[in-house]
Amino acid sequence: MVTAAENEILTRVGPGTPMGRMMRRYWLPVCASEQVARPDGAPLRTKLLGENYVVFRDTSGRVGVMEEYCMHRRASLALARVEDNGIRCLYHGWKFGVDGEIQETPNHCDERFRRSQRAPAFPAREAGGLVWAYVGPREQEPLFQKYAFFDGPAENRLIFRLNIPANYLQLWEGGVDSSHVGILHCNLANPEWKIRPDFAPDFDDYTSVALANGDNAPEMELENTAYGFHYAARRKGPHTPDGGETYSARVTTVMLPTARIIPLTFYQFFLFEVPRDDVSTSTYIVCHGPRAFDRDKMKAVLGLDNERLWNERDCDYRATEENLWGQDRSVMDTVWSGLGGLGPEDASIGVSMGPIVERHKEVLVAADKAVVRLRERLLESVRRHEAGGAPFGLDIADYSRVRSLPDTTIPVGERWQDHLPDNMGLGARPTERVNN
Ligand code: FES
Ligand SMILES: [Fe+2]
Repeated sequence: MVTAAENEILTRVGPGTPMGRMMRRYWLPVCASEQVARPDGAPLRTKLLGENYVVFRDTSGRVGVMEEYCMHRRASLALARVEDNGIRCLYHGWKFGVDGEIQETPNHCDERFRRSQRAPAFPAREAGGLVWAYVGPREQEPLFQKYAFFDGPAENRLIFRLNIPANYLQLWEGGVDSSHVGILHCNLANPEWKIRPDFAPDFDDYTSVALANGDNAPEMELENTAYGFHYAARRKGPHTPDGGETYSARVTTVMLPTARIIPLTFYQFFLFEVPRDDVSTSTYIVCHGPRAFDRDKMKAVLGLDNERLWNERDCDYRATEENLWGQDRSVMDTVWSGLGGLGPEDASIGVSMGPIVERHKEVLVAADKAVVRLRERLLESVRRHEAGGAPFGLDIADYSRVRSLPDTTIPVGERWQDHLPDNMGLGARPTERVNN
């Protein structure tokens, strides 16, 4: 059970908070590369861990991440001109490079002043279609972590960003909650449950989320890793031709501070729940597979084709109490949730809980085991960091062979972990291994 005090630690991410301090130790996504595609294009305002930034691409194509408010007298650099390999504040024309160099100060002609100061720019990189920034203590810049979706041609990857008005943790918890998949998402994953008794799982490339069978109360098996944990939702499997017992395992992998890998048959979803502030989150959904995706088709599968709720221009998810979080009750004979698609189902449920869940009021059951583990691992990592240690996974540079596992039939007696031999983490210290 999470106490009210622990809930504060888990959910508050601003500067000076324990979670905020820990999250600032990692590289984090700040936007999709697409959002700042054009050199000298408009700066993009963004929020990260309770602070405001602008992201821009200079004339030479380099990305810069800078505090939003100009270091001179705090005008917003969202209004700035991006030109001649720098960003120029409109108010008095101070101009800064992506690395924080002060290039010009037209109202103050003292070159020594310019050389003696730096603008608040942060280390930034582009990889896997995302812009990443490190906004933690300068002298503690960590390894830049590589994920599998950094590899392969860009068309084998799709990125959707949703700015969702809810605390990051309740959205992330939904991602490690296997028992909701066959219920909230039953239209896609398990329609035989309530909607279509004649349902046969659809193993189409895009919609291969169907569960191996309709068991909505899987047994959960969890194992800690150096970077977080992974867990199998275990369901009874079919008999082998010679009558042997099997089980079906669906494995989800969690990497602190914001990531998880959700398994599908033909591709994987990498999700990052990046806090904008205590009550809003940028969810990055990265679809990554062995061949090119059709963006429109994936948008429809994810239910992100309803412009009333979400669009690619501002990425804001517009579910509110007033619009009943986007629910259309008139379609609930055929669309079980009335929320139309995986994305709105997960996002609207998260928003419907209120900005920050009051976790001490919950009634938890065995199916919530992975949700509990996520909280424990986050709290453990924060405590370790507050005591002067490194947070989980900070010393791992390569996650590219860490995987999740779609529903897989495994003979009883064999370990699901053997299907994910690299999940203990490359370069990771195996000392974190704890079976449960
Ligand atoms: S406030 Fe930006 S140059 Fe003066
Ligand atoms: Fe979900």
